[in-house]
Amino acid sequence: MSSTTDRAGRAQIAERTLRTDRWWVPPLVTAVGLGLWVLYATVRAFMQLWYFVPQYNYLTPFYSPCVSTGCVEQAAHFGRFLPDWPILPYASLTLPFLLLFRLTCYYYRKAYYRSFWLSPPACAVAEPHRRYRGESRGLLLGQNLHRYFFYAAVLISLINTYDAFRAFVTADGSFGLGLGNIILLVNVVLLWAYTISCHSCRSIVGGRLNHFSRHPTRYKAWQFVSRLNTKHMQLAWTTLGTLALTDFYIMAVSAGWFSDLRIVG
Ligand code: FES
Repeated sequence: MSSTTDRAGRAQIAERTLRTDRWWVPPLVTAVGLGLWVLYATVRAFMQLWYFVPQYNYLTPFYSPCVSTGCVEQAAHFGRFLPDWPILPYASLTLPFLLLFRLTCYYYRKAYYRSFWLSPPACAVAEPHRRYRGESRGLLLGQNLHRYFFYAAVLISLINTYDAFRAFVTADGSFGLGLGNIILLVNVVLLWAYTISCHSCRSIVGGRLNHFSRHPTRYKAWQFVSRLNTKHMQLAWTTLGTLALTDFYIMAVSAGWFSDLRIVG
């Protein structure tokens, strides 16, 4: 190890890091996990196939709301008005906002800055970039829009909730319950947990108040959101998993790879 000191007396270390543990494992796992998920989601979003099970009204969240003229009528609860082009996912109305919501999420920012941009890849490991400007220039200024994407995510979660409940009504109008319903419901509950645990939600619920004592309801809500907020990273990953699982299950039933496990109806 060789070192000198700078003018402020700080050690200038030639080595990139003095860490001897396997610090590169978490960023590598994150990069692989996020990369695979993005690949799966992209393929599915553009597939325009196997997104709906008409007997049970199962609609995958990747195609909700289905607003393309290519959507089957039964799946299009909010109208069909976007052109049916191969380059246009059937849920083009909402997917960009969901993408932006996750892309600007405080947790994902840390995750992809570390794993893809290596800035820095881990604590006490020097980054390969010569200059650090934070999020103060160019496109990165857009990260500040996260709070507005949060509002969009709330609306989209409401639509996902509608889909989950709509799926309890089968094609003949009777009540039905299958494994697909349980998967859709668990997915939507976790999506709400992730959305509400958002840091922006925490400041919206508890911010701009001088005295919590004068706003007991908001204080309670803020406490609830704060507790969820401590699990934001776990919820970020869990919801990626449940979204992919929900989509895969509906794709498999729709394609006829296996049947839905029915409990009622
Ligand atoms: S901070 Fe992650 S969703 Fe808002």
